[in-house]
Amino acid sequence: MARNEIRDDVIDVLQDQGVSDLMTAQTKTREPPLAILAELTHRCPLRCVYCSNPLALDPASGEMDTESWLSVIDQAADMGVLQIHFSGGEPTARKDLDTLVARADSAGLYVNLITSGVLLTDQRTAALAEAGLAHVQLGFQDSEAGPGEWISGYAGGHAKKLEAARMIRDAGLALTVNVVVHRHNAVRVPQIIQMAVDLGAHRVEIANVQYYGWGLRNRAVLMPGRAQTEKMTEVVEEARKRLKGVIVIDYVTPDYYARYPKSCMGGWARRFLNLTPAGKVLPCHAAESIPGLKFDSVRDRPLAEIWENGQAFRKYRATEWMPEGCRSCERREIDWGGCRCQAMALTGDAANMDPVCMYSSFNDEVQAMADQDAVAGQEPVYRTFQGTSEETV
Ligand code: SF4
Ligand code: FES
Repeated sequence: MARNEIRDDVIDVLQDQGVSDLMTAQTKTREPPLAILAELTHRCPLRCVYCSNPLALDPASGEMDTESWLSVIDQAADMGVLQIHFSGGEPTARKDLDTLVARADSAGLYVNLITSGVLLTDQRTAALAEAGLAHVQLGFQDSEAGPGEWISGYAGGHAKKLEAARMIRDAGLALTVNVVVHRHNAVRVPQIIQMAVDLGAHRVEIANVQYYGWGLRNRAVLMPGRAQTEKMTEVVEEARKRLKGVIVIDYVTPDYYARYPKSCMGGWARRFLNLTPAGKVLPCHAAESIPGLKFDSVRDRPLAEIWENGQAFRKYRATEWMPEGCRSCERREIDWGGCRCQAMALTGDAANMDPVCMYSSFNDEVQAMADQDAVAGQEPVYRTFQGTSEETV
């Protein structure tokens, strides 16, 4: 899935929970992370061309065992973390998911599951609800099976997802429908929103592809045009007004066309941390794309110590690291200089201003690149495990 969705969802859920004051307080001083994203596995039956997992996926043999994950959950709760998001790959591919959910719930964490839904059964969904799961983000690729399954590389997936939505509602769980949008499904945003309403979701997230990992690899396949993007934004605004009180619509714009960057992860090492299947602790899901960072593992060092003193966490925290343009900018504590991974991918230096910022000297180049990609023809490259053509669950 597109992990920038996490940031917005976390903030929305926290606001729903009435803890926005706490969140504001936490932005002012170094506090524990608000939420952790636990990538339990990189295994997944889907092969989405914009998957935010790294190009080099963690093999099943390297995944942390149940006891190690239980220790992570206990440590997170002790630190004062409020939420845990179980993600992947496909987290329901882990047989111990119910055990992990139960521990997180009993430790007082708000438990969210980010899933493709294709492995869920009525029995499993009910068991997860019983274990203490509070909320499910169910990913769809489209409102139509054909184009959706072209993106996911998984035949029959759409019908399974529709069934999964029913299971989730029947189990009494809160449902958010997540849909990543790009130039091939942008035209169906109205149908996508209606699908979410029909499925009984309380929220739908329409998130443009974030260009990291496989999304970056397939940027020329996915980039929408400028006019198409403006139209999409109008459609969402109209639907928000029309469906007020029926469904909440979150919308993540394609930031190559924005004037300012997003506040990626709410600022590097300020609110969130990410656990890889093998136990590496990252400031964001794409941080391994930045050379020179050292990522500690929870197998070797306590989580709280990594959060506080890990080299990768300290490197771009707060404002001291910023280039001059950001240091003197009034938005420096709004967007925190944007996204380090995007700066790395597009300028070759993670310490540069995010080049989607209109003040960046790379911005003209990025705009031209987006315009060029929006009309490029290219066959998608599907997510695969390194060295194999298919992953197994
Ligand atoms: Fe954000 Fe830096 Fe651009 Fe200011 S100059 S808007 S802080 S990226
Ligand atoms: Fe934005 Fe890494 S994805 S900082």
